[in-house]
Amino acid sequence: MADNKVYIFDTTLRDGEQVPGCKLNTSEKIELALQLEALGVDIIEAGFPISSPGDFESVNAIAKIVKNATVCGLSRAVQKDIEVAGEALKPAARKRIHTGIGTSDLHIKAKFNATREEILQRAIQAVKWARNFTDDVEFYAEDAGRTDNEFLARVVEAVIAAGATTVNIPDTTGYCLPHQYGEKIAYLVNNVPNVDKAVLSCHCHNDLGLATANSIAGVIAGARQIECTINGLGERAGNTALEEVVMILQQHKLGLYTNVNAKMLNPLSRMVSDVMRMPVQPNKAIVGGNAFSHSSGIHQDGFLKDAQTYEIINPVEVGAEESKIVLTARSGRSALAHRLQKLGFQYTRNDIDVLYQEFLKVADAKKEVLEDDLVAISKAYQKEAVVA
Ligand code: KIV
Ligand code: ZN
Repeated sequence: MADNKVYIFDTTLRDGEQVPGCKLNTSEKIELALQLEALGVDIIEAGFPISSPGDFESVNAIAKIVKNATVCGLSRAVQKDIEVAGEALKPAARKRIHTGIGTSDLHIKAKFNATREEILQRAIQAVKWARNFTDDVEFYAEDAGRTDNEFLARVVEAVIAAGATTVNIPDTTGYCLPHQYGEKIAYLVNNVPNVDKAVLSCHCHNDLGLATANSIAGVIAGARQIECTINGLGERAGNTALEEVVMILQQHKLGLYTNVNAKMLNPLSRMVSDVMRMPVQPNKAIVGGNAFSHSSGIHQDGFLKDAQTYEIINPVEVGAEESKIVLTARSGRSALAHRLQKLGFQYTRNDIDVLYQEFLKVADAKKEVLEDDLVAISKAYQKEAVVA
């Protein structure tokens, strides 16, 4: 097993781009690939070259331009797919072919009408074909989350023996609970004799909202690569969010690290959201518009005394705008005084007591009290004071 570095395998341009409405053209893909490289991801899954001439062109163009990150192309366990991926990746300074096949009994029967033994042979063959194009071959055992662990261990051992250097254990349907996914990785670590010859990878989907938790359980159990996307984009409910796993590994002392420059997380999140026309939900961890906003009186008062009372991350660390004190009918006097002060109004405690009653009237009538409202409340108060 590798050391304590967790490799970040970004699949925004492949699993993320599969989302309806998120399709990118080649120049948009190149622009994002260069940003992902600057962010410090280790592997960029640039696309699925056999899927369309446009995707072949995108993978090929990214292979020419990206220099530090490994550029990866997806394929099925099909010779033609692998050859096309190899061709698209030819110019890459570092290239990886990601090939694989479904290994759960459901996939084996419903998708391939095959047997476990046949799937095992097809997996081995796919890795051997891919090794003709690069030494860096990743195998995915699709639906590993619902694959019997004993059979999965046989597949993992066989593909490593055939030359796979990374083995992806996807929870394709987002079915596993974190302890189950962690136990699956631990089972492979303990039962695959040649597991030290490859990196185990977590590829978790978010159908039950557990993608991030499952990926973290996976690396705690011994996996050393996480496959993820910016803003958690991906099929159905999405993939593991890159920004979440990176910040969890930075916040918690698990002895694990990544090479990602966290200061780029928010700018890149906005860029992906704009280019893919996919808004980010306001309460999204790390990159949502409300991730560093405080609106209840109790929280605002604590935050203004010491930011750490209600913030575990300084927004500057993740390239977000400074924390916001949002004024609503739930806000208290200290938040009101703080916001007035920011607008240049200095008031005594007694002034604030009076102003607060006016503020509450406006706040009850509106969802949020804005700067213009504050200026109006303040000016009316000053006028009254002069008249009196
Ligand atoms: O979710 C999945 O299983 C995948 C594979 C193609 C890696 O995206
Ligand atoms: Zn996936």
